[in-house]
Amino acid sequence: MKTIKRIAWATDLHLDFLPRDERNAYIAGLASLPIDLLLLGGDTINGMLLDECFGEMARCLPFKICFVLGNHDYYGSSIAKVKGWAKEITHASDNLFWMPEMGMLELNPSTVLIGHDGWADGRLGDYANSMVILNDYFHISELKGLDKKHRLEVIHQLGDEAAHFVAHWLNKVLKTYQQVIFLTHVPPFHHVCRHSHNIAKDDHLPFLTCKAVGDVLLSVMKHHAQHKILVLSGHTHRNSVRHILPNLTIVTGGADYGTPKVQKIWSGEMDGFSFSEEIPMLPLTSAKLEFIKKRA
Ligand SMILES: [Fe+2]
Repeated sequence: MKTIKRIAWATDLHLDFLPRDERNAYIAGLASLPIDLLLLGGDTINGMLLDECFGEMARCLPFKICFVLGNHDYYGSSIAKVKGWAKEITHASDNLFWMPEMGMLELNPSTVLIGHDGWADGRLGDYANSMVILNDYFHISELKGLDKKHRLEVIHQLGDEAAHFVAHWLNKVLKTYQQVIFLTHVPPFHHVCRHSHNIAKDDHLPFLTCKAVGDVLLSVMKHHAQHKILVLSGHTHRNSVRHILPNLTIVTGGADYGTPKVQKIWSGEMDGFSFSEEIPMLPLTSAKLEFIKKRA
């Protein structure tokens, strides 16, 4: 298969914060990127506009798009319905791939992409005493009308599903590949969860991290010291990077409602994740596009 050399990663685009014409202009801008693959880290839009928005991407973008879903992608709909849609579109489209359905994508003979949505599973921080109320509880069918105890059961289950998936695919791909990029929405480690410029406190952490996935990553990577994994996550809307283990690095992407970005573009051969190019685009402008084209 064709080696994928240039990859862009964008997360938390929240394109529903733009009117349709601006949204489509942003997507048209993405089409100009000199890349082979676009990674979308979730919270791309909301549950009511997913089909229209991803349909526009499928029509306009001349490269593969691998995506995971964030909590906002279910707003106005249900988890079951949106996952059903994502599964269907992965089979029906030539260039849209929901990573939990796709499983893995080889980027080059030593590097592979895996991905899962994840879910903030309430296990880090102090869920019992937190007064935080998420919009999720009003806009996602499965969480509507539940009390705190039953909400915790649902988010535990979603975290466990993600962890089970990651354990399966990570162990599988490490038999063949030296390096893994893991695309997810919810950070699996608290180290990168910033809130108001500081590491999030106990009242917010239950809603910012997926501990179940973090536990799997730690356990597997400690037994694979010769392999490396790069975790690309979003959800917090704040830029952060931490080396959790010598072979396990996590990055979170910054985001602002109404000004969708592309977090990074990597080009050249991937060697130990020392990518030759790393270009933040805040926001995506025609001048910035020209700049990227020249450097790629
Ligand atoms: Fe978001």
